[in-house]
Amino acid sequence: MELTAAHLAELTGGVVVGDPTVVVSAFAIDSRVLDPGSAFVALTAARDGHDFVVDAFAAGAVVALVAREVATPAGATLVVVDDPLAALGRVAAGVHPADRRVVGITGSAGKTATKDLTAAALAGALRVHASPGSFNNEAGFPLTLLGAPDATQVVVAEMGARFPGNIADLCAVARPEIGVITHIGLSHAEHLGGRAGIARTKGELVEALPATGYAVLNADDDTTPSLADRTSAAVVTVGVSPTADVVVRDIVLDGGLRPTFTIESPWGATAVTLGLRGAHQAHNAAMAVTVALLLGVPIDVAVADLGSATSADWRMDLVEAPGGVVVLNDAYNASPSSMHASLRAFATLPARGRHVAVVGDMLELGECGEAEHAEVGALAAELGVDVVIAVGPASAATATAASAGGAEVHHVADRDEARTVVAAIVEPGDAVLVKASRLVGLEVVADALVRGEAVA
Ligand SMILES: Nc1ncnc2c1ncn2[C@@H]1O[C@H](COP(=O)(O)OP(=O)(O)O)[C@@H](O)[C@H]1O
Ligand SMILES: [Mg+2]
Repeated sequence: MELTAAHLAELTGGVVVGDPTVVVSAFAIDSRVLDPGSAFVALTAARDGHDFVVDAFAAGAVVALVAREVATPAGATLVVVDDPLAALGRVAAGVHPADRRVVGITGSAGKTATKDLTAAALAGALRVHASPGSFNNEAGFPLTLLGAPDATQVVVAEMGARFPGNIADLCAVARPEIGVITHIGLSHAEHLGGRAGIARTKGELVEALPATGYAVLNADDDTTPSLADRTSAAVVTVGVSPTADVVVRDIVLDGGLRPTFTIESPWGATAVTLGLRGAHQAHNAAMAVTVALLLGVPIDVAVADLGSATSADWRMDLVEAPGGVVVLNDAYNASPSSMHASLRAFATLPARGRHVAVVGDMLELGECGEAEHAEVGALAAELGVDVVIAVGPASAATATAASAGGAEVHHVADRDEARTVVAAIVEPGDAVLVKASRLVGLEVVADALVRGEAVA
């Protein structure tokens, strides 16, 4: 993709200050990770991007998209617009080729994994470009579209929602032809109005689909019928339910928690083994394969590379630490559904010693918070987890329920106290799960375990 500053101004209704003929070949919002030749988009978030325009030019930017004129090095070109974030969306919309297909993926958990699995399922047959990392918001989605190489046939994009309207806004930038909703849980429940509000917000994706498109929905989720009612696209359901259009059967986890399972679809059946961990990934993979089948990829080609999809750091990392402790590090983030999925997998992990779950607060749950934490504690005990270390104020409910269920329980205030308790009680041979919302920062506990520093 090559665009002049003049073209950027035309697409955004902006004004060029500098050289209108300068050519942009990429877009960036972070001056520290910027390819030479980029347009730097000055967003205002926790920090004001306008403070980094000079750095961006030093790093090789050729244009900055800004809301106001700022001091720049001699010869630098600005495109001044009303709102750089909206302008980024307009540029992405303006240059997106009409024949380039978009697959949008949302849901309360599993967006990133399903996005990566979908890219893997498509890559054997189509030139595919996927969102890097977890890029899924008003900036990440247009950046994903703009980052697609010229020959790209399909863009697989993660779409996140913290507030109602977020996903509809993303769909207005580039309309997906296939929309996948992994499942409806309680992530960000506080802002979205409970599970019903979440279903409404995630449903913006299926509402945006064209009648010639497909909504890929979770057959095992009770919100699916109401989501199906909201789309004019054809609905294809995926799940363990025998009534699903694409059925996931016989999920078995190996000693490293990797699932092997069978997918049965109208396009044929096949066995699959993943490199990702947990039974929930079988579900994500079946959704990914369904997208590939809908786009005409033969089933054997769709599953050929699924085993090579890997997860990002701190997501179900399984490490045998010095001292013989097995650590399942899922500290990246947590919501009720991902906590349940993690615990279910963890409980099957072979261990010589005890199963110790270091589980912390799940944030942004609003009024559902107490009940959801209690459910985590009850589930841990029910699954036979021996020791629960509940971290953070909301996890008091986890502690109470786990204790009532018969587990040994320690309730601590924060990650530092958690580290101390872990060091005091974890013994060689134990298996330890570490998981909480991002802000709890439990990766420090996992890191200490992995380095062998937190073993009694
Ligand atoms: N289908 C699923 N159901 C429940 N939990 C899941 C599912 N898929 C992934 N997870 C868990 O959710 C967490 C986040 O996964 P990720 O793929 O990064 O999702 P997202 O992009 O939606 O945050 C991880 O702990 C992962 O194991
Ligand atoms: Mg993500």
